[in-house]
Amino acid sequence: MSDGVLPASGGNRNLTRTDGQVGSERRALVTGHAGHTVWLTGLSGSGKSSIAYSVEAALVDRGIAAYVLDGDNVRLALNRDLGFSPEDRTENIRRVGEVCRLFQDAGLVVISAFISPYRADRSTVRALHPAGTFSEVFVDASLETCEERDVKGLYARARTGEIPEFSGVSAPYEEPAEPDLHLDASEPLETCVLAVLRHLGIGREPETVG
Ligand code: ADX
Repeated sequence: MSDGVLPASGGNRNLTRTDGQVGSERRALVTGHAGHTVWLTGLSGSGKSSIAYSVEAALVDRGIAAYVLDGDNVRLALNRDLGFSPEDRTENIRRVGEVCRLFQDAGLVVISAFISPYRADRSTVRALHPAGTFSEVFVDASLETCEERDVKGLYARARTGEIPEFSGVSAPYEEPAEPDLHLDASEPLETCVLAVLRHLGIGREPETVG
């Protein structure tokens, strides 16, 4: 990240916010549902991405416009200038939060899968959203479990010090104190997916959704 040529405000003294003619109610007439952000948080390897993509598929099967924003993918593209220092993680989550808010405003159900280790950053993202349009979902897997699975082989490299500032090992992960939904990641994937759908007020079968 640059040191900041612009002030923290982004020089916004000279900018004016403009609102369009179409609000969320009219957008919902097109999509058939309101927009919502489902914010998955948890350690690397906890299963966030698997849950996110399965929820997305289940929603799309039910005719709901859903889209996943995934940490690794976003960091390979939009946020490729960011690393894993506390400042860069905060900026990562700030940008993704803004994108979620745009998608939510556009009428999509956006499912984000980021470690998002800092409570304050997650609160910032919640605050970007109108009341009732944001759900924080804790994908709860212990460090031991994630490390044992080590799907990407990153924990082993973090332990040797090859990867610095690794969440849970050499960087903090602040568990949500009061998530909107608490998933036990040791449960089967389908159980977690159904819990998210239920949280969104969506039934088990695609045809039960109007
Ligand atoms: S966050 O902390 O800024 O929210 P994010 O979810 O975008 O992280 O990216 C996490 C992914 O980056 C991990 O799943 C892992 O694949 C990879 N990664 C690479 N280095 C690190 C690190 N130091 N800490 C955590 N994840 C890392």
